[in-house]
Amino acid sequence: MKSTAVITRGDEDEDPVSRKSRVLRLARSRRPVESFADRPVPPDAIQALLDCARYAHSASEAQPWRFVAVQQAMTVHRLAEAAFNDPRLRSAPLVIVACARVHSHVSGTGRPSYPVDLAAATQSMVLAAEEMGLGTCWITGYRESDVRDALDVPRDVPVVAMLAIGYAEELRERPEREPVENVVAWEEWDRESR
Ligand SMILES: Cc1cc2nc3c(=O)[nH]c(=O)nc-3n(C[C@H](O)[C@H](O)[C@H](O)COP(=O)(O)O)c2cc1C
Repeated sequence: MKSTAVITRGDEDEDPVSRKSRVLRLARSRRPVESFADRPVPPDAIQALLDCARYAHSASEAQPWRFVAVQQAMTVHRLAEAAFNDPRLRSAPLVIVACARVHSHVSGTGRPSYPVDLAAATQSMVLAAEEMGLGTCWITGYRESDVRDALDVPRDVPVVAMLAIGYAEELRERPEREPVENVVAWEEWDRESR
């Protein structure tokens, strides 16, 4: 007979609905940072963020992420320039640059999985930051070659995203979300969907 393992997460005393709603609350309340306060991110918080990122899941357990954590003002400034002088980056005390090892592509379908894997890891950091009272702004609008030059990233390593992190001074307005019926179809594609 197959044995059934009891899987524990260490927080069973909590009611599962409140556990779920805590994540939901973070996901719903999160807003991107418009500008960061002049206050460093504590080292243990940086470590926690990076741990959240590396514990993300990835297709075939490829773990293709490679992160460059940047705190030096001069380098942050170069990253901001690479992102067309993005004001959020300019004021960020910490930028985590998410890069990928492309030789760890999942090749079965021919579709590379690293962009999705890196997105999963980055989103884990976004929510973890939020829970620790930090704010983030996810940036993909940059000249990749300039980011590469600033950080000495090799040519065959894509720079997938940058995440500016810190204590928020100002938050951006949150855009309205599409109602659920506009974005969810059940069982098959909704032909009315735009
Ligand atoms: C993958 C991704 C890339 C983004 N890139 C940029 C960017 O290059 N510049 C920027 O100002 N905001 C960027 N953002 C922030 C979005 O513009 C922001 O999340 C959007 O306005 C929705 O607001 P919300 O985060 O409150 O949902 C990015 C967000 C995501 C998820």
